[in-house]
Amino acid sequence: MTGGAGFLGSHLCDRLLKEGHDIICLDNFFTGTRNNVLHLQQNPHFELLRHDVTFPLYVEVDQIYNLACPASPVHYQHDPVQTTKTSVHGAINMLGLAKRTGARILQASTSEVYGDPEVHPQPESYWGRVNPIGPRSCYDEGKRCAETLFFDYQRQHNLDIKVVRIFNTYGPRMHPNDGRVVSNFIVQALSGEDITIYGDGQQTRSFCYVDDLIEGFINMMSTETGFFGPVNLGNPGEFTMLELAELVIKLVGGRSKLLYLPLPQDDPKQRQPDITLAKSKLGWQPKVVLEDGLKETIAYFRKLLNA
Ligand SMILES: NC(=O)c1ccc[n+]([C@@H]2O[C@H](COP(=O)([O-])OP(=O)(O)OC[C@H]3O[C@@H](n4cnc5c(N)ncnc54)[C@H](O)[C@@H]3O)[C@@H](O)[C@H]2O)c1
Repeated sequence: MTGGAGFLGSHLCDRLLKEGHDIICLDNFFTGTRNNVLHLQQNPHFELLRHDVTFPLYVEVDQIYNLACPASPVHYQHDPVQTTKTSVHGAINMLGLAKRTGARILQASTSEVYGDPEVHPQPESYWGRVNPIGPRSCYDEGKRCAETLFFDYQRQHNLDIKVVRIFNTYGPRMHPNDGRVVSNFIVQALSGEDITIYGDGQQTRSFCYVDDLIEGFINMMSTETGFFGPVNLGNPGEFTMLELAELVIKLVGGRSKLLYLPLPQDDPKQRQPDITLAKSKLGWQPKVVLEDGLKETIAYFRKLLNA
């Protein structure tokens, strides 16, 4: 697993170890941390490897989950050239590994491949509306190119690929300072600060709890050979930023107020997955309601921040 010490990767490690797999968890610790997998270090079926996916890797594996890539705008815009390299060179290196070992390989793609969509909700057949030269392009276009590589390796070298497009996912072990809306709101509320709303707060997002998403990964990895995706994984429940802020304030308690700031460039107005395909092909749909998932996430951040 690449990016295994990150937010999603560490939960996927937990789940795969429970199912009896052996894992090589590879990470360069750019946004991930050893702490996320500290509880696994004594497990003889778990091996942690510091490695950058932009360099080739020679190991023996029979499945590859390719998750390595900073996922939040603050992190992926910090070194945008490296972000594109991670997506593109990382994909090439991991596809090369899959080719050599015959491993099945799953790509963690993103709803950002749809850009600022004119179609709502977004089905997999929608090609997207992405700015190729903006500040978010290193991530969006990097992920789009990675998808292209996956499908070209499949067509050209007959690789056993699986591609999932992940929509906003949240839960324990999110990075506290990554600027993503759920962690932002929770950290602000727990610290007694005002909650920052960009624009008028009417833009909507859907939020998938991490346990649901991991279930979707596992289901996708075990679909029949010849089914490649891409498949949307996310929670179609749609909330405005204002609704989310109010729910977080209610669950955390405290007296945070709302602080309105200008909207950043290329911020999509709406994003909601169409999960018809995931339902039919993976027998998957999210189960955790936002309030329950937020409670778990708040408990994690309360402990982390000692708040
Ligand atoms: N969390 C979400 O809502 C979401 C949504 C869409 C897509 N995704 C995708 O899922 C994957 C995991 O995201 P996450 O939320 O866990 O983010 P994360 O930042 O917590 O995890 C990414 C991991 O990749 C590692 N990494 C980054 N560059 C690397 C490199 N060059 N070599 C090796 N490791 C590297 C980081 O250190 C980190 O551990 C990413 O590919 C992301 O694009 C996540």
